[in-house]
Amino acid sequence: ELGPYRHFMQKEIHEQPRAVADTIEALIDAGAFVAELFGDDAAEVLRDVEGVQILACGTSYYAGLTARYWIESIAKLPCTVEIASEYRYREAFANPKNLIVTISQSGETLDTMEALKYAKSLGHTKTLSICNVPESAIPRASRLVYYTRAGAEIGVASTKAFTTQLVALFTLTCTLARLQGRLDETQEAAHIDALRQLPGSIQHALNLEPQVAVWSDRFAPKQHALFLGRGVHYPIALEGALKLKEISYIHAEAYPAGELKHGPLALVDESMPVVVIAPNDALLEKVKSNIQEVRARGGEMFVFTDADSHFGESEQVHVIRTPRHVGVLSPVVHAIPVQLLAYHAALARGTDVDKPRNLAKSVTVE
Ligand code: M6R
Repeated sequence: ELGPYRHFMQKEIHEQPRAVADTIEALIDAGAFVAELFGDDAAEVLRDVEGVQILACGTSYYAGLTARYWIESIAKLPCTVEIASEYRYREAFANPKNLIVTISQSGETLDTMEALKYAKSLGHTKTLSICNVPESAIPRASRLVYYTRAGAEIGVASTKAFTTQLVALFTLTCTLARLQGRLDETQEAAHIDALRQLPGSIQHALNLEPQVAVWSDRFAPKQHALFLGRGVHYPIALEGALKLKEISYIHAEAYPAGELKHGPLALVDESMPVVVIAPNDALLEKVKSNIQEVRARGGEMFVFTDADSHFGESEQVHVIRTPRHVGVLSPVVHAIPVQLLAYHAALARGTDVDKPRNLAKSVTVE
C-alpha cells in the first residue's frame, strides 16, 4: 500500500501533483470558471454575494487564510477567516448576503459543523463547503459543495488535503470574480493556464526533497523554530509551523516577518533556526530587510525561495530554490517544502509520523 514510501504522510506529500490535477479536472474540462462547478443553483447563490466568511480549523483554517488574499485582490470582496470553535461561541454579526464557506478535509469536524449550524441559525442561507470526503456531514448541511479530489488522507498531518483546498479556493475566487464582472477573459485564461501548470510546478518542488532532508538533520536537535512569511505566504509559514510541531514535537511559531521587531526578535539567537518563506514577489525586498535583523542576532536561516531571487548564501543563511516563481499560485508550491521539512525532521527524531501523540485524524469531539 505504501509503495516506495516509508509513511502515509510521505506518500500523500508525493501524491499532490495528481491530487491537484484531479481537483481541477472539471474546471479544466469546462475551460472557464463556471458556477456549476459548485452545484446546480450556484450562479444564483454566488451572483450577489457581498462578502465571504470562511470558517475552519487547523490546516483547513490556514487554507482559508491564504484564500483571503485572493478573494480580496481578485474577486474584490471583503473576506474574513475565523477559527470555527471561536465563531460558534460568539455573538457574530450576520449579513445574509455573505457567503459562508466551511473548509474541512474530513467533513466531520465537530467545531466546523457547529459553526455552520450557528451561521444558519443567524440567518445565513448562502453556504458552501470545500470538503474531501463525499457525503460527509458538512457538505450535506451546505447548499453548495466543491469536493477536493485528494483521495483518502491517512496521515494525521494534513498535506494533500491542504493543497487541494487551496486550488478549490482559488477556483471559488475566480468564479466569484467572473460572476461579478471582475475578471475579463484574458485574466480568466491566464488563471486557468496557471492552474494547468500547477501540478508540474508542485512536482518540481517535490524534487527538492533530498536538499530539504539535509536541512532537517540540522533541525532535529532543536527545541524551537521560528517561521516567517509575508502577505499570501504568511499562512504558509503558519502551516509549516503547525506541521513541524504536530509531527516532530519541536515547538514552532510563525510570524508575519514585519512583526519580528514587535516582539519575537527577542527569541532569536544562534540556537533558534528561522525558516523563511520568501518567493520572488512584491514583498521580497521587505522580507530581505526583515531577515537582516535575524542575521544580525546570529540566527541560522533556512530560506525557501524561487530561482530568480538573489539571496546571499553563507554559513548562516541556507537557501533552497524552486525553479521559478509561479505568480499568484505561489503559496501552493511553497506549501511543499515546509511539509517535507516537517516530515524529515520528524523522521530524524524517530516520532510516529502518521499517528503523532495525542492527536486524531478527525476531531469529532469538542
Ligand atoms: O478534517 P478537517 O479539515 O476539518 O480537520 C481540521 C483539523 O483538525 C486538521 O486540519 C488538523 O489541524 C491537521 N491534523 C493538521 O495537519
